[in-house]
Amino acid sequence: MSKKVDNQSFNIPIITTQLDLETELYRYPAENTFILTDENTAALLPDLIKTISKLQNAVTIEIPSGEANKTINTCLNIWQKLSNNQVNKKALIINLGGGVITDLGGFVASTYKRGIDFLNIPTTLLAMTDAAIGGKTGVDLDNFKNQVGMISSPIGIYYDSNFLSTLPKNELISGFAEVLKHGLVKSKSYWEKCTNISFDDLNWEDVILGSVEIKCAVVKRDPYEKGERKLLNFGHTIGHAIETFMMNQSTPIMHGEAVAIGIICESYISTKIAKLSKAELEEITTNISKLFPKIELKKSTFLTLIELMRNDKKNISNEINFSLLDSIGKGIYDQNCSEEMIIEALSYYTER
Ligand code: GLY
Repeated sequence: MSKKVDNQSFNIPIITTQLDLETELYRYPAENTFILTDENTAALLPDLIKTISKLQNAVTIEIPSGEANKTINTCLNIWQKLSNNQVNKKALIINLGGGVITDLGGFVASTYKRGIDFLNIPTTLLAMTDAAIGGKTGVDLDNFKNQVGMISSPIGIYYDSNFLSTLPKNELISGFAEVLKHGLVKSKSYWEKCTNISFDDLNWEDVILGSVEIKCAVVKRDPYEKGERKLLNFGHTIGHAIETFMMNQSTPIMHGEAVAIGIICESYISTKIAKLSKAELEEITTNISKLFPKIELKKSTFLTLIELMRNDKKNISNEINFSLLDSIGKGIYDQNCSEEMIIEALSYYTER
């Protein structure tokens, strides 16, 4: 990356130059440096090693890709490998990949011998702008995403926007849902910057750094999600339920596709119980619909979706907790709404 993020003001160790990455890596002996990859990101290693010489002798651990492998069994295999090789507390795990790798690798590192260092090298837009930042680590349990995990910070997050050129377009669009969410809850000017230009003409370095700045600022103020960080769940209450439902039906959709539906539905709710205007709802719906394919959701599934929302770990009572919008760029959190309102919002999406 050619641009720098001011590390001091965010207090989150964003690394944007190869030199700074090499400097971090020199603190760990090569035989104690592990790179966690999946079969996709393993292919990125030869080029990375060419530029970051300190990685040449690191040990690679490869796991199968995909959300279905974000389980405690995968962790067990990695812990076993580390333990069998008598890896000590001075080790470093480098998580090279998307959100599954950064979430799972961060969890493995944070629990092995009560915690060894880890560093994230996100390779997808979703991981760069969301998953790799903010210390959320963990794995899924049964059908519940991120049911087991902890907040634990990496020693660094290394950014190289060139990784995005290896991503299929649908992956890029999926990650863009989180980017748009950042604009919607925190910055109208960032939302406009991301939507007033065609998707293919976006400058990815600027997009990434804009999202990183927004997310870092929120996480720095509220790392344990007691208040403001809940804003980042906008679109996810309904989005997660749809994602889980589709996974259970064996017709999985991408995380960003589910969040995009969640953003439309939760924007609709925002016009009813928060202050979002109808004009801004229309602006949001139009921009999201341009990028994300319409997913068919039958009315008969709505109650099942609401049941899934009730199981969301963000709820603290029987109420379903929402983050909503007062306007584009101004999110609010800890909002509850009736089942009828959720059904109305899902109908708004399906009937368009
Ligand atoms: N993905 C939302 C958060 O990190 O808080």
